[in-house]
Amino acid sequence: MKSYNIAVIGGDGTGPEVTREAVKVLEVAAKKFSLKLNFTPYDLGGERYLRTKEALPDSVVDELRKFPAILLGAIGHPDVKPGILEKGILLRLRFELEQYINLRPVKLYDERFCPLKDKGPEHIDFVVVRENTEGLYAGAGGFLKKGTPQEVAVQESVNTRHGVERCLRYAFDYTRARNRTKTLTLVGKTNVLTYAFDLWERAFHEVGAADYPDIKRDYAHVDATCMWMVKNPEWFDVIVTDNMFGDIITDLAAGLQGGLGMAASGNVRPGHTSMFEPVHGSAPTIAGKNIANPFGAILTAAMMLAHLGMTGKAEKIEAAVLEAVRQKKTTYDLGGNLGTGAVGEWVATEVSRG
Ligand code: NAD
Ligand code: IPM
Ligand code: MN
Repeated sequence: MKSYNIAVIGGDGTGPEVTREAVKVLEVAAKKFSLKLNFTPYDLGGERYLRTKEALPDSVVDELRKFPAILLGAIGHPDVKPGILEKGILLRLRFELEQYINLRPVKLYDERFCPLKDKGPEHIDFVVVRENTEGLYAGAGGFLKKGTPQEVAVQESVNTRHGVERCLRYAFDYTRARNRTKTLTLVGKTNVLTYAFDLWERAFHEVGAADYPDIKRDYAHVDATCMWMVKNPEWFDVIVTDNMFGDIITDLAAGLQGGLGMAASGNVRPGHTSMFEPVHGSAPTIAGKNIANPFGAILTAAMMLAHLGMTGKAEKIEAAVLEAVRQKKTTYDLGGNLGTGAVGEWVATEVSRG
């Protein structure tokens, strides 16, 4: 029997609630598919930080490196200054584990969830490949004369040829394997960010022309992309973009899918520890009420199985979510009246039947 060790970080707010449901579904799937999944929980997040004043001990990073995959809920606590936990836990793990890709599929499961008129599942099915270790997230910059009227704050975008190229190659490979329209769209801002996106654009065409002649290369400015995503989302197959733009456009894209409760993602370093988390945050205002939508977390768990090589099993979980959607076994954000736990239970039962 194949066996996998999975680290589980529930995190803050609704994180532990939705992660519990994802693990519930995975446990049923493991039983059904004769698979052994060994879950090791890690207590990380705001509560631990407030208790210990430490966001993420070095020893825990070293332990996490030994897992093929980490399942994470969300990080962010209303009593902790913004940035401390997000940078101290989430970004630190993405950076130190060199998870250089943030893979974010955008898929509409039911026309009912889409805020766009006349758009259905056939129109909204694309993937965003977000660079995950550089750009404005690199932490370059600083203050000068902080707190004075002459204060200066500089935040620089760092783009290395190595970092950009490995992200582009991943995106080209992904587009080829996805085998839809075989179109990769670079999303940037070449008209203003004439250093950063000059490098991106040159690398895009050089790598594409040399090694991916079968993939059509397309370009769109990020502002126009926001408009096209709303007007003609069916135009997109795979998008590749930098860290900041990727962050922003994937929340917009989540809106097309029915909200943040639906969106899944993976922080991927091929062949090494990868970390899977729903796109949404800790949603503190709805935490503890058993109303958070667990689909994003469950679909994230399915992505994790696919990443570990279990594509067929991942598809079974996705099919169970689709069935729950069809039968309106959903939380309130999708127009249903079930709680987080009941939705997870329903999907788990569907997986065990399927
Ligand atoms: P959020 O994603 O937590 O919430 C945005 C909106 O989406 C809210 O209206 C919320 O109720 C709704 N929402 C989110 N998840 C939902 C779910 N599962 N079901 C139904 N509705 C859901 O974003 P925010 O409010 O900007 O941030 C809250 C905290 O989370 C902050 O501390 C932020 O830094 C953090 N954050 C963490 C992650 C992460 O861990 N990956 C991602 C984004 C934000
Ligand atoms: C996301 C989040 C994170 C990001 C934050 C919480 C650091 O918004 O995963 O999209 O900006 O990457
Ligand atoms: Mn985000």
